[in-house]
Amino acid sequence: MKNTARLVLKNSFKPSCRSFSTCQMQQGIWAGVNYAPLDAIKQLTISFNQDTAPNKILLGEGVYRTNEGKPKTLPSVREAEKIIFEKGLDHEYPPVTGVVDFCKATQKFAFGENSDRIATVQSISGTGSLCLAACYIKKFLPADTKVYFPNPTWVNHFNIFRAQGFTDDRIPTYRYFDKKTNGMDVQGALEDIKNAPAKSVILLHACAHNPTGVDPTMDTWKKISDICKEKQHYVLFDSAYQAFASGDANTDAQSFRLFVKEGHQIMLCQSYAKNFGLYGQRIGAFNVVTENAEEKKNVESQLGIIIRTQYSNPPLHGARLVTTVLNTPELKAQWEKDVKELADRIKLMRAKLVEELKKVGSTRDWSHITNQIGMFAFSGLNEQQVTKLKEEYHIYMTKDGRISISGLNTNNVATVAKAMHEVTKN
Ligand SMILES: Cc1ncc(COP(=O)(O)O)c(C=O)c1O
Repeated sequence: MKNTARLVLKNSFKPSCRSFSTCQMQQGIWAGVNYAPLDAIKQLTISFNQDTAPNKILLGEGVYRTNEGKPKTLPSVREAEKIIFEKGLDHEYPPVTGVVDFCKATQKFAFGENSDRIATVQSISGTGSLCLAACYIKKFLPADTKVYFPNPTWVNHFNIFRAQGFTDDRIPTYRYFDKKTNGMDVQGALEDIKNAPAKSVILLHACAHNPTGVDPTMDTWKKISDICKEKQHYVLFDSAYQAFASGDANTDAQSFRLFVKEGHQIMLCQSYAKNFGLYGQRIGAFNVVTENAEEKKNVESQLGIIIRTQYSNPPLHGARLVTTVLNTPELKAQWEKDVKELADRIKLMRAKLVEELKKVGSTRDWSHITNQIGMFAFSGLNEQQVTKLKEEYHIYMTKDGRISISGLNTNNVATVAKAMHEVTKN
């Protein structure tokens, strides 16, 4: 309100600028717009890029790097690119709800089979899928519905829902991580989900929980499912790492497939950023399991309305790449090898880090690093130790002690372990 008033005032009293140089001298009509720093993870990369130390190491953003510290394009995706190029396809608008073959392929990839009661629309990667989920929940669930996130969670979950108008009292958290054990607070999570008002939305990370790398066991998933059923909660799964966590797509889908088997009509957000290495193509999907084909049609039509007002149609290329890989048996087999290679390197680096910590004399229990799964390790380092790592050793990670394991490689893992030991001994 204050800003708007200031903007109006400036607009009415200042003459408009005629050239760039005069604009620089005067306050412009947008002077009421404050600078907004990016979130902590993006900010960390900026600080890292500004650091001139030659030996600096970035363990921040969740992007895969090879052992040489380079981005990786999967061989299966490279092959798909050639096939698509040779087809000489046009660049017409795809349907509002997405490339039809992609929607079928992504549904099968997630749920193991196609179903005439699952509404599936293409999305702008995982973030866009969560935006659709937030819009859909806002539009079709009562205005006081609360959406529960695990504590901690991927920080953008809060931002996405806030951007759709969810006030902070509508996006509370349930206990998830136990700092004492560096594992899951099973009891706390179950209690909080049980105590949430009936018909709340419970957001669950399908696998490779970000930022902790701690996932429920199948036994715990079943307990969560039972409580959600008892409380008639709506369940929203965020699946940003299917196959990237364990190396196998079916294993990483076990959580939400169990919920479907148990009769939940879940919502599922998918991303192909990490598991296909398609970060910049912004390809994903949003799925809603419904009761029957009629409901599916209705839900899909409503998602189409949301999409039409936001970006009208999704982009083509990422959808074509994923569809080509998933629908071409040889490429699918190649992709299975490709993604396993990524998951295996992450697992190897977890083991190496613990091995090197022992080698340099750390007597702490670091077993949680190998017990956790996926892109991130929640190291247990506190903010002071993280700051020391940055200032004295030029090693960058988020303040909560989250390490992006893919930033480790055989050239830097010993250096990181030594520094971690230095900041944690006493
Ligand atoms: C838990 C979780 N959800 C969703 C996303 C969305 O990623 P993208 O929009 O790049 O697909 C990420 C990415 O880091 C994530 O970790």
